Amino acid sequence: MKEPECRTVEPARAGLRGEIVVPGDKSVSHRAVMLASLARGTSHIRNFLPGADNFSTVNAMRALGVPVTELGNNVLEIAGVGLDGLQEPQDVIDCGNSGTTVRLLTGILAAQPFFSVLSGDASLRRRPMKRVSGALAGMGARITGRHGGENLPLAVSGGNLHPFRYNSPVASAQVKSALLLAGLFCEGQTTVREPYPSRDHTERMLSFFGARVEASPGQVTVHGRPQLYGRELTVVGDISSAAFFMVAALLVPDSQLRLVNVGVNPTRDGILEVLRNMGAHLELENRREEAGEPVADILVRTSALHGVEIGGALIPRLIDELPVLCVAAALAEGTTVIRDARELRVKETDRIAAMAGELVKLGVAVETRDDGMIIRGGASFQGANVKSHGDHRIAMSMAVAGLRASSAVSIADAACTDISFPGFWEQLQGIVSR
Ligand code: S3P
Repeated sequence: MKEPECRTVEPARAGLRGEIVVPGDKSVSHRAVMLASLARGTSHIRNFLPGADNFSTVNAMRALGVPVTELGNNVLEIAGVGLDGLQEPQDVIDCGNSGTTVRLLTGILAAQPFFSVLSGDASLRRRPMKRVSGALAGMGARITGRHGGENLPLAVSGGNLHPFRYNSPVASAQVKSALLLAGLFCEGQTTVREPYPSRDHTERMLSFFGARVEASPGQVTVHGRPQLYGRELTVVGDISSAAFFMVAALLVPDSQLRLVNVGVNPTRDGILEVLRNMGAHLELENRREEAGEPVADILVRTSALHGVEIGGALIPRLIDELPVLCVAAALAEGTTVIRDARELRVKETDRIAAMAGELVKLGVAVETRDDGMIIRGGASFQGANVKSHGDHRIAMSMAVAGLRASSAVSIADAACTDISFPGFWEQLQGIVSR
């Protein structure tokens, strides 16, 4: 078996300078592929994120009979088959590491007049699926799986759903999206309510492809059986990927970085709010819109940060950025408290336990709570051998920490950055060596 790749990050000797064009947004790329597949006519998706997770979605749609062609330069051409054009897959659909692929696809497959089976890698097979399979059962879906439908593989005997009003106990865009996508195939209206608004890319993308959607904070309704049309669209840059460089530039003295073409959807921009509350100097320039999504360039300068409290409605707006925020918090003045973030425990890994364990190796004082952590700021990182736990966001958070450590930080199992950010190490090298 191949040794998992190890990466070593040396302390930055000078400020980070230059420009970073972050890759396409992972969440938007998944939805673009799924909706283009269900539309009639051809779509072109530009700035598609060529990460492993998004190829899980591409390959799943291909397995369902949708022609998806890679035209090069991160452009996909999708010959949509329409709402009734998917075909029964010949084999188990492998969703790899991608929670978004499996959960959104379960919504689509629950409504198809055929049988399908979904599985994934060891991490995905541990993650909770009942939140989706159980909710879809309310629409009449027949989904079974290991541990009473909680774990993959899931077997879906699709068809005959009815519209539904669902009060979700969790603020999860994946749960909401699975129901909305299932609702596309039913006559009538499907409504989802959630405790706090989660990312709304599915709603925006549904409207962009021609569906009728009514949304207000915390509630969304889709009108079933719309006509979706092929579209030309460009995926905005991923704020979750930009976050690593944002924090790096804030922490490394004498830095000034421009992050170009970053999606700043208000359901995703909690990182900007929290970093500003911590004292960060961030400027948004050149605001515009792309395929229904707001975009801007972000100028980041080194700033003195102080600790903050993060909880409540902010959590879904920055859930994927919490690992790198922990790195910022450790170097900030004072204590940072993260609460209401129990969801971190069921991500690609248990991100509360994993981040706390790795931060301790760097010399940080951290306490974990069931739903978050308390990080004592004012730390100075020592060089260490740390682990990614196979989790892309932990690997990149550790790389950012390495820039401010007293000696090298070696990150074991670092190739997982390709899940969401192919080219991360090269981009990092590019701003460090200037
Ligand atoms: C995602 C939703 C979030 C997020 C994940 C991507 C999406 O998960 O953490 O990385 O694309 O819908 P939950 O829906 O489980 O909160």
